[in-house]
Order: sequence, then C-alpha cells, then structure tokens
Amino acid sequence: MNIQTAQKTRMPQEIADRLVDPKVYGEFDTIHADLTWLRHNMPLSVAETDGYDPFWVVTKYKDMEEIGRQPRLFTNNGVRKTLITQDFEARAKAMQAQGREPVNRSLLTMDQPEHMRYRLITQARFAPKGIRSLEADIRGIASRSVGALAGASECEFMDRVANRFPLRVIMSLLDVPREDEDMLLSLTQRFFNPRDTEISGKQGGFSVGATSNHDLVHEMKAYFTSIAEDRRANPRDDVASVIANAKIRGVPVPEFDVVSYYMTIATAGHDTTASSTGGAVRAMAENPEQFALVKADRSLIPSLVNEAVRWTSPVSHFMRTATADYELRGQHIRKGDWLMLCYPSGNRDEDIFVDPFTFQVDRKSNSQIGFGYGAHVCLGQHLARMEMTIFMEEFFERVESIEMAGPARRTDSILVGGLKSLPIRYRLAE
Ligand code: HEM
Repeated sequence: MNIQTAQKTRMPQEIADRLVDPKVYGEFDTIHADLTWLRHNMPLSVAETDGYDPFWVVTKYKDMEEIGRQPRLFTNNGVRKTLITQDFEARAKAMQAQGREPVNRSLLTMDQPEHMRYRLITQARFAPKGIRSLEADIRGIASRSVGALAGASECEFMDRVANRFPLRVIMSLLDVPREDEDMLLSLTQRFFNPRDTEISGKQGGFSVGATSNHDLVHEMKAYFTSIAEDRRANPRDDVASVIANAKIRGVPVPEFDVVSYYMTIATAGHDTTASSTGGAVRAMAENPEQFALVKADRSLIPSLVNEAVRWTSPVSHFMRTATADYELRGQHIRKGDWLMLCYPSGNRDEDIFVDPFTFQVDRKSNSQIGFGYGAHVCLGQHLARMEMTIFMEEFFERVESIEMAGPARRTDSILVGGLKSLPIRYRLAE
C-alpha cells in the first residue's frame, strides 16, 4: 500500500506515534485528547509511523457509517483487519507460503460474499429471539456473580466480578465445562493484551500485532478443536453444535473454520462486555448522582447499558482496506489504502452527541457506535445488551452505594481496552 501523503493530510508525528502505542491506550485521557484534536483539526488524516504501513485515521461518526455501509469497497482484508506491524504481516505471509495455517479465519477476517455465508450460520442464534432462551441461565450467572460481593465491603471488582460474568455466559453459550474458567480467562486476556506485560508475562516480548502471537493462538486452537470434535460426534442444543455441524452450499464447514469461529466468539464476547460493565460501575462510583438516578428508577437500566457502551467503547479500532478510489470528507482515498476506524472517537463526536465527555445514564438519543456499523456490526450486540441489562438489574437489587477505593488502572492494548483494576467500596442491601 502506498498512501501518497500530501503534507496537509499528514497528522502531527507525535499523535501518529501515540496511536500505535499500547501504553497510551492505558491512559484513556491522552488518547481521547489526541482523538479530539484530530476531530477538530484533521478529522481524516494519515498516520505515518515506524514499523507500520501508513494508514488513514477516521475519527468522525458519519465517516465510520459511510465506510461501514460499503463492505465491498472497504474490506476487512484478512490479517489486516486490525492494526499490525509490517513485521507481523511478513511473518503471517511467510507462514502461509510454507503451507502453514493462517492465524485465524473468522468473520472478522472474511469479506463478502463469504463473510455473510458464515455469519448466517449463527445469526438467528444471536438475534433477540434466538437469545431469549438464555435469559434464565444468564440471570442465574449474574446473580451468582453479583453474589461474590457478599461478606465484604471492598473488592477488586474486575477480578472478582466483571471479568468472570461475561466469560461464564460465553461458556454457557458454548456449553463448555465450568472448571475451564480460569484457563479460558487467562487465554482471552493474554490474547487481547499481548503487549501488556503485567497480563501476558513474557509473551509480551514476542508479540507485535494488535492481537495475540501465533503460539498463543495455537494453544487456544487445541482447546477448541476438542470441542468441535465432540459436537460433531454428539450434537447438543448449543451454538458450538450449530457451528460444528453447519454446511455452506451443502459442504460441511472445515474444522479450521469451526475452531476459528469458536475462538472469535470466545474472545470477542468476553473482554468487551467485561470492559463495558466494569467501566459503567467505575463511572457510577465516580458520579454518585448517576448511580442514584438508576437506583431510584430501574427503568433507566437499558439506557445505562447503552451509555456504558458509548462511554467505554471497548473496541478501540478495526481497520478497512479500500478496494477502489473513493472521495471521503474531501480527501482522496486510493485503492489499497488502509483506514483505521476509531470507534471511541465516533462515540465522542460533538456533531452527534450532546456533551460527549459527560456520562449520563439517562442520555437522550444515544445511537452509540461502540458495536460498529454495517456488515461486520457486532454479532453479539443483542446478547451483550441482554447480559449487561440483567447484570445491572441484579447489581442494583443488591448494592446500595458504591465509591472508588483506589485508582482504577487500564490495560495497555490498542484493540480491546478496558480496566484491569477497579478497587471499589460498597454497601449491600440488608
Ligand atoms: C459490550 C460488548 C461488545 C462490544 C463493545 C463489541 C464490539 C464489537 C465491534 C466494534 C465489532 C465490529 C468489528 C468491525 O468493525 O469489523 C464487533 C464484532 C463482533 N462481535 Fe462484538 N462486541 C461486544 C460483545 C460481543 C459479544 C457478547 C459477542 C458474542 C458472544 C460478540 C461477538 C462478535 C463477533 C462474532 C463479531 C464479528 C462480526 C462480523 O465480523 O461479522 N461481541 N463487536
């Protein structure tokens, strides 16, 4: 790819460098200050920084919609669906040249028409009607997760509650054994935080992409392959069986794709939801009047959930590749150019949201873009909303007040961001 960068389209070097630095995403205010500056001064500009192909940075909500609406023109394009270094791409290509499997082949790496064929395998299961049957199960999981607050007045909320809850829901969806929880928690956290050494340990040193390195992916594959084999032999009424036994144009879906599908659901459905849930609890601990509003009127919970997704925007970016020349916001995008969709920026866009830097549980007209837009819009969005709504119902039933008990800390990740530490103090109902 060769973006021809005129001086006027090139963003300041220090912002470009920060946009690829996971540590900066650990400081949400810094990344938001940069994105706000870009929205106001260079809403569509090019980042050029060492080790990466140049890429356009899309900061405006309407531009993300315009791109999302045209999936054949703006493709996810395999491994280039997320920001990767030139080195990462070279390694992926070398592996493929040796006939080794690509890292993953999922909805997120696919484009039309194949993408929609694969999406249709589970779409009905993830539609509002399809997830209704999970409600009772999710309520039980939410109740037990909130129940972990009992017997104390302070806790590390991410570890004790927020990280566990969505993982248990996904495990129930795929019907995998409860005793695998700790192992799966560690796998998904290392997957999304390859460069946060506190989470990924030594692994941090090897990893160069926005998501994980190949070794970790192969570890996950081994786990999910055994599930695929089991569901082929003994189909049940779970999503894992639907995928394992699916056919596309009469041909069974290859095992590699089945396993990739599981991995995508397990990873995409976990950290994101934990991050929005934890972020909402933090925002209410810091803004007690917002907690009080929902405590007094539980019908605000769906609105709180929507605002939580807008406020936290756990997915920091996805990339698109232009398949033809295109004019966008007066700029000339060329065939082959790479574009970064900055969802957190879309969710703070002053042209769309009134007072975007204020957390408002009763925000009116909140069409947040945290689930993305268009053909790749989050497959699990209805599930995520339902999970978080039920969770908040249970939470408000039991919790009388919350406050911060120490500083919150974020993960250092350029793809799915959120809190790794949220110490809170609370009072439970008698
Ligand atoms: C608050 C929670 C969540 C957020 C903020 C979120 C966000 C997103 C975003 C922004 C995308 C679009 C990617 C793109 O632009 O290419 C996406 C896709 C996806 N999400 Fe979510 N997600 C959440 C929860 C879930 C859950 C619970 C699941 C499943 C159980 C899930 C499964 C997926 C899948 C499979 C895709 C790929 C869809 C495709 O490419 O067609 N997500 N999500």
